[in-house]
Amino acid sequence: MNSFELTGRKALVTGGARGIGAATAEALAHAGASVMIGDVLEAEGKATADAIAKTGATAGFVKLDVTDEADWEAAIATTIAELGGLDVLVNNAGILTASLIIDTDPADIRRLNDINVVGTLLGLKHGLRAMRPGGAAANGGSIVNLSSGAALIAYPATAGYSATKSAVDRITRIAAQESGKLGYGVRVNCVYPGFIGTSMAFGLAADMARLGLSDSAEAALNEVVGSTPLGRLGEVDDVANAIVFLASDASQFVTGAGLPVDGGLGI
Ligand SMILES: NC(=O)c1ccc[n+]([C@@H]2O[C@H](COP(=O)([O-])OP(=O)(O)OC[C@H]3O[C@@H](n4cnc5c(N)ncnc54)[C@H](O)[C@@H]3O)[C@@H](O)[C@H]2O)c1
Repeated sequence: MNSFELTGRKALVTGGARGIGAATAEALAHAGASVMIGDVLEAEGKATADAIAKTGATAGFVKLDVTDEADWEAAIATTIAELGGLDVLVNNAGILTASLIIDTDPADIRRLNDINVVGTLLGLKHGLRAMRPGGAAANGGSIVNLSSGAALIAYPATAGYSATKSAVDRITRIAAQESGKLGYGVRVNCVYPGFIGTSMAFGLAADMARLGLSDSAEAALNEVVGSTPLGRLGEVDDVANAIVFLASDASQFVTGAGLPVDGGLGI
């Protein structure tokens, strides 16, 4: 038996319309899972789900703003109704707003916290309720949260973002404790991606130049690559593959862990 296989598993990926979330939905489907993409981007999310369905997998889209509790209730219910259960939840939706600390805008920090922290906590709340014994899915499973290398290293202009991703790191461990001790049958882990080639990372590189922290966006990216032992930027599939591992039985004795996927940047 291939323990990385996810045949018969049902997965919900938040922020799955594009970037790491889309690659994760594709990788989970490739490993055999049925997938539901939850995102605020309806057209992009549906297009990503359609592309996955064309490969022969079961894939759907549900509108989900992770900050909205009613949306979470509906998204979990829709996933269970359409896929026939819920075994894997990937709390991937997130935003990054870059700023120097001297220019901190409280509205930006509150928005970062709302999506990255409150959104992840609501996902854990409703995912665990559904997956634990007596829940609407009641089959246990695996939840993977997207923390960040920003929780491991100090990167300038990301104070607010870094704080939210450090919170996701801590929340992951507490969720694993509660789930394990209370017999929910759900493992909870997180990943720490380094610089992964998506609009978020390229936007941050441009911000580094805008804020006078690097000569240009290209120079900022080169600095990251220069500090990365494996000598390149990350790709979305690098993160997606790590998430498949944490979602699968190959990691069945792993919970409360954080897995760097950063080419060694955070060492
Ligand atoms: N790209 C990187 O270098 C990197 C590094 C470390 C961590 N991460 C984390 O990985 C995750 C994905 O990042 P990405 O690079 O793919 O970013 P991205 O901006 O390409 O994609 C983020 C997705 O989240 C969705 N989203 C945003 N707010 C939402 C909300 N309120 N409800 C539902 N969906 C929402 C967006 O619509 C989008 O589809 C994020 O949590 C990010 O913090 C990314």
